[in-house]
Amino acid sequence: MSRRKLIAGNWKMNKTAAEGVALIKEIKAQFTECGSSKCCANAPEILVCPPFTTLAAVLAEAQGCSCMKVGAQNVHWAEKGAFTGEISAAMLKEMGIEYVLTGHSERRQYFGETDESVNQRTKAALSAGLSVIICVGETETERNKQVTNAVLERQVRWGLSDITAEQMKNIVIAYEPVWAIGTGKTASDADAQAAHAFIRNLLKQMFSCPCVADNTRLLYGGSMNAANAAGLLAQADIDGGLIGGAALKAADFATIIRAAM
Ligand code: 13P
Repeated sequence: MSRRKLIAGNWKMNKTAAEGVALIKEIKAQFTECGSSKCCANAPEILVCPPFTTLAAVLAEAQGCSCMKVGAQNVHWAEKGAFTGEISAAMLKEMGIEYVLTGHSERRQYFGETDESVNQRTKAALSAGLSVIICVGETETERNKQVTNAVLERQVRWGLSDITAEQMKNIVIAYEPVWAIGTGKTASDADAQAAHAFIRNLLKQMFSCPCVADNTRLLYGGSMNAANAAGLLAQADIDGGLIGGAALKAADFATIIRAAM
């Protein structure tokens, strides 16, 4: 089994269109394999997820890097209708967006996202032909109470309910312990590996075809940076990273991409 690594930057609410274009230009300058055939052959898949208003400009600029894809940070579950402020999967697909994040802990924490709505958003995105990175992870309180695995199991089972083995080809799961996000505290390589192994094992139980557990990419997120990426990415069940702060610094993001090569 070989799972191509995926290095994804979640820009969160950072970067106007002009700033986003400048950042992509800088990433391309730092990661010179971008324009060459080496990019496709050796590099991980690279993904950047800017804010909605920055997507079009970044998409145009990213086309100069053959292994770079562009994703959105959220999507609504309905095809269309009276949902002020929301964006549908078809709108993203039409622009050329390939990925979307669902269930990020900031959406769960600040915007009332539930396991059920994460599942609905995920299914809508899949139906429109997008790939989805579903984010899961325990809070510090949950970790202290030693219920991490129960939380992960609930979030993964709910997030993936009604999703078929065939659809799982377009699903990535990101394990992002909430206490590690934006805090500079990273899970140790061993703790991160244990959580990823738990999720992979869960996929084995959930899907009769072992191909799902074997082929689904699992990403680590939470203060991943240029210094700790290599150790995390060397773990057997960690297939890439979902990076916040360090994805806004071209040199650091390029270093993390190289750590995955
Ligand atoms: P940081 O890398 O800033 O901790 O953010 C991680 C994250 O939330 C990515 O989705």
